[in-house]
Amino acid sequence: MQVKVLLDESEIPRQWYNIAADLPTPMQPPLGPDGKPISPEMLAPVFPMNIIEQEVSQERWIDIPEEVLQILYLWRPSPLYRARSLEKALGTPARIYYKNEGVSPAGSHKPNTAVPQAWYNKQFGIKRITTETGAGQWGSALAFSCALLGLECKVYMVRISFDQKPFRRLMMETWGAKCVASPSNETQAGRNILAELPDTPGSLGIAISEAVEAAVSDKSGQTRYSLGSVLNHVMLHQTIIGLEAKKQLAKVNEKKVDVVIGCAGGGSNFAGLAFPFVADKIAGADIEIYPVEPSSCPTMTRGPFSYDFGDTAEMTPLLPMHTLGHKFVPPAIHAGGLRYHGIAPLVSQTIVEGLVTPRAYHQVECYKAALLWARTEGFISAPETSHAIACAIEEAKKAKEEGKEKVILMNWSGHGLMDLTGYEKFMSGKLEDFPLPEEMLQESLASISKLPKPQAAKTGKW
Ligand SMILES: Cc1ncc(COP(=O)(O)O)c(C=O)c1O
Repeated sequence: MQVKVLLDESEIPRQWYNIAADLPTPMQPPLGPDGKPISPEMLAPVFPMNIIEQEVSQERWIDIPEEVLQILYLWRPSPLYRARSLEKALGTPARIYYKNEGVSPAGSHKPNTAVPQAWYNKQFGIKRITTETGAGQWGSALAFSCALLGLECKVYMVRISFDQKPFRRLMMETWGAKCVASPSNETQAGRNILAELPDTPGSLGIAISEAVEAAVSDKSGQTRYSLGSVLNHVMLHQTIIGLEAKKQLAKVNEKKVDVVIGCAGGGSNFAGLAFPFVADKIAGADIEIYPVEPSSCPTMTRGPFSYDFGDTAEMTPLLPMHTLGHKFVPPAIHAGGLRYHGIAPLVSQTIVEGLVTPRAYHQVECYKAALLWARTEGFISAPETSHAIACAIEEAKKAKEEGKEKVILMNWSGHGLMDLTGYEKFMSGKLEDFPLPEEMLQESLASISKLPKPQAAKTGKW
């Protein structure tokens, strides 16, 4: 019985899939501070122009540069596993498959976009990249990519994760990056927050403000900012996951996928696996597609579709997305990479259209799922990934109740070998859930009440 499905290097997809070309209703543009659509030139101090071109591209297929492929071959094509032991433990008739993105050098899906982003920056003549990181997965992915491409890298790491995950910082430093806790005293945005909230656990929104400020304030023009999720070009780079999965499923004669699942912080590993299947759904396939988030940071399940800033200090353009409000500081749950107030505009549009259906789980249930996973499949999951596992287990149990042989495909977005403190808390019964009170949500949403509202455009087909 085959456990994993491998592709040869020669079978790697050579183009990324851009869902913007196929969405049934067009995306609404990002807006500037004056409420008018921003032009690509306005983004030029933040990103190199070759990446901005990808950000706004409507081309369905975009070539992956050969030099990028050469680095991706270090771990790609990633294996597709059949979760046979988990299936057996659950007694489900479902066939559960997962892409193992934990095999990359940094341990998650994040290098799939870190490598091309670093490469495009280098092509454009940039010497130094700044970024933020939540759990440290993205920061370490970018640090690794910059090391291989000879670029400097500076990472603002959310304070709570900086304290909880010292080994991630050490990984970044091993790859030659500089890492500071955010909010920091190094930027005006950081100093403002610290003056107001000296004990804040930090948030991705705050760290983004700091990293953007650090990039645009370098007068030499040789620094740019890089984002590990949310933006269109990041979703694009991650589609290599879903494109590989399709080839792998075909190799084991799976003709139809019933359920596709990915955890979602900014939305990139979910989109990377799911968008090639969303394309099938747009073309008529019957697939349930679930992005999964923490109940304590319920961007997709409780946040309205609105224009909002990507960061706390209001430095980014306004993006049309599901959001909890850019001032929202999520509870200090262990899945640091899922503590973001917004979600990718492309993912938001697929939610508005009804093509994908968000789900939310509390962290205790997710750790329970991750423990069952570790004791059946063997791999120790990142706390973010455990959200996808909780959903896959629920779906497999549903298939059992219904007596249906469903095919469930999940993205195993990363390993949790640097995240064992969360497991320790769970196993000693000290881990708590943080249900988000409605008053707190409403208070946060008040900060975006005056921002423009995008049209919730949908065809009504799904
Ligand atoms: C392992 C892992 N999975 C998922 C995520 C969430 O990010 P995204 O929604 O962009 O995939 C992160 C973010 O840090 C992560 O480290």
